[in-house]
Amino acid sequence: MLRRLYHEQPAAFAFTPANLAWAKGQISKYPEGRQASAIIPLLWRAQEQEGWLSRPAIEHVADMLGMAHIRALEVATFYFMFQLQPVGSVAHIQICGTTSCMICGSGALIAVCKDRIAAQPHTLSADGKFSWEEVECLGSCANAPMAQIGKDYYEDLTAARLGQLLDDLAAGKVPVPGPQTGRYSSEPANGLTSLKEFESGRTKYNASVQRAVDIGDTVKRIDGTEVPLLTPWLGTAAPAKGRAGGAKAEKPAKAAPPAKSKAAEAPAPAPVEPAAAAKPKKPRALKAPRKGGADDLKMIKGVGPKLEALLHSLGFYHFDQVAGWTAAELAWVDDSLEGFRGRASRDGWIEQAKLLAGGGETEFSKRVKKGNVY
Ligand code: FES
Repeated sequence: MLRRLYHEQPAAFAFTPANLAWAKGQISKYPEGRQASAIIPLLWRAQEQEGWLSRPAIEHVADMLGMAHIRALEVATFYFMFQLQPVGSVAHIQICGTTSCMICGSGALIAVCKDRIAAQPHTLSADGKFSWEEVECLGSCANAPMAQIGKDYYEDLTAARLGQLLDDLAAGKVPVPGPQTGRYSSEPANGLTSLKEFESGRTKYNASVQRAVDIGDTVKRIDGTEVPLLTPWLGTAAPAKGRAGGAKAEKPAKAAPPAKSKAAEAPAPAPVEPAAAAKPKKPRALKAPRKGGADDLKMIKGVGPKLEALLHSLGFYHFDQVAGWTAAELAWVDDSLEGFRGRASRDGWIEQAKLLAGGGETEFSKRVKKGNVY
């Protein structure tokens, strides 16, 4: 299937403050220089917030991670889980069309979608409330045919039951997920044949359904206030908070103080958000290096040969120049690093340069001198 960006795009994208804090926490999981590893969770969160991935959203995430826009576009267009066009304001219906579901009647479910939502997949219904698509096996084959609606599974479906689900969702209700025929989980359709002694003591719903009911966010957009991302590795575990629907978030393990290591000599990474809060201002630049030649800017972690050449072209040759940048100047530099936007603040160039300009060393510069950086 050809996956292209939607022909109509919003002017801009921004995470909600809570989602931004969550995204920063995700990025902090990865070692310096590997922040791009957070691309999928951040794109996913952008989609959870908006329902689909717009071009501004993809580029915003790329900028946060210091990636070229095309790299993020490659990821977003490769994975089918990313919706590249608007989805229904109430729900996006994903019908499994793979073998078990097909044999058990997914064709009838797709017919309902064509009739009730839109003739073509990835198309909004006339009232904008629904959209649908056929997907590959969702791993619930024992309860075929099934559909994923929002974040949860609706199993053992019939065409009539799917129609009722659409009616309920359109009316603002969220039907209980799981098997829709009264079956408890994936036991034989005619009832248990063994382990019958456990039948009387079981809870109302199976564990997956109970969890979905407790959380209650089946078709809800995620604004980041639902479950805080706990970041004990930063020494700042967020307070436990009730989840939507009343279930309690697990208590975080007590945050251990950050282990001291040689790496502590290196400056802590700066906040991952590009220094965009300050109004960008061009720092003073030099036409050429001073007498004695340029410093080896590659001693700064995050600066490779390409970025060093770019910095030279911008008039920066010395550690003390970098060390003296103000927040506004850092924002200007971040913006000017074509293809590497945000890297100067993300990698803490100023803090590193201050050490190096004073004759000190960072763990990274020591490794460069030993030839251990490739
Ligand atoms: S075939 Fe439909 S869930 Fe596996």
